[in-house]
Amino acid sequence: MLVLVSGAGTNLQALLDASRDPEYGVEVVAVGADRDDIEGLARAERAGLPTFVHRVKDFASREAWDAELTASCAKHQPDLIVLAGFMKLTGQAFLGEFGGRTVNTHPALSPAFPGMDGPAAALAYGVKVTGATLFVVDAGVDSGPVVDQTAVRVEEGDDVESLHERIKVAERAMLVRCVGRMAREGFSITDRKVRFGQ
Ligand code: GAR
Repeated sequence: MLVLVSGAGTNLQALLDASRDPEYGVEVVAVGADRDDIEGLARAERAGLPTFVHRVKDFASREAWDAELTASCAKHQPDLIVLAGFMKLTGQAFLGEFGGRTVNTHPALSPAFPGMDGPAAALAYGVKVTGATLFVVDAGVDSGPVVDQTAVRVEEGDDVESLHERIKVAERAMLVRCVGRMAREGFSITDRKVRFGQ
């Protein structure tokens, strides 16, 4: 499994911690990012993993960035790619190579509140329950087939930070549980329904 990050990397850390147990059945082979100087990369380096960084602004086009990202991921021959707080949309080259075996985690209950700030949008709307969604990446924004969802109550007095932190606790548990099952049992997608097992 290869993990792509853009920030703190707490979801990555949860996967690294789980994969220390051989029975978990998943090995993180490399970590990539779209920016430097992030705790997500530091976590990977502390774990002794190879890392790579491709910043969109260093490329002539979004397509060129996507092609380079795809090539760097392919070098590590991952079975599965996990976007764990990766704040970029992957493009056609990436989906051509890794479509159907890339999952992303989003801090809202899809199809509500897609995009960059799920917790803020949920709070502004005034919902009482939100959560996180793990999905198989497609060409849309947080629109792919749902692997699993976990619900979190919005508490009186929540701000974006407190709500997002509570979501992330549930999100990390869901991510670790589902990625382990996907790796150990395989999965299929029929009419958008994701099922574990062959
Ligand atoms: C997570 O809550 C993830 O769902 C969110 O960023 C956070 C990353 O946390 N991703 C998105 O909002 C993507 N649309 P982390 O860096 O501590 O794992």
